[in-house]
Amino acid sequence: MGTRLPLRGGFERGPAVTLTLDGRPVTAYEGESVATALFAEGHVATRRTRTGEPRGVFCGMGVCFDCLVVVDGVPNTRACVTWVSEGMDVRRQDGFGPLREDG
Ligand code: FES
Repeated sequence: MGTRLPLRGGFERGPAVTLTLDGRPVTAYEGESVATALFAEGHVATRRTRTGEPRGVFCGMGVCFDCLVVVDGVPNTRACVTWVSEGMDVRRQDGFGPLREDG
């Protein structure tokens, strides 16, 4: 379940899905954004700029492009407006590509 908040008021999570995050399998729930899955796994920074500065969710609604990640090999995907799905491969982004193994 990671660090997700408990739900109250009759709300329920969607069915569990398994995706990979930087090559590691993690559980997320249908209806969640990739950004939520990253937060739940303790990652505030979704990428580093070409000069190495960390960036993460800023607007949370698809406008600022600060939350870019690589999804299924496609760089520059906005984590805040991309919904998780079974088998998805998510990698934090380093410049224009996936985060290096030592990152
Ligand atoms: S946080 Fe601004 S586009 Fe995702």
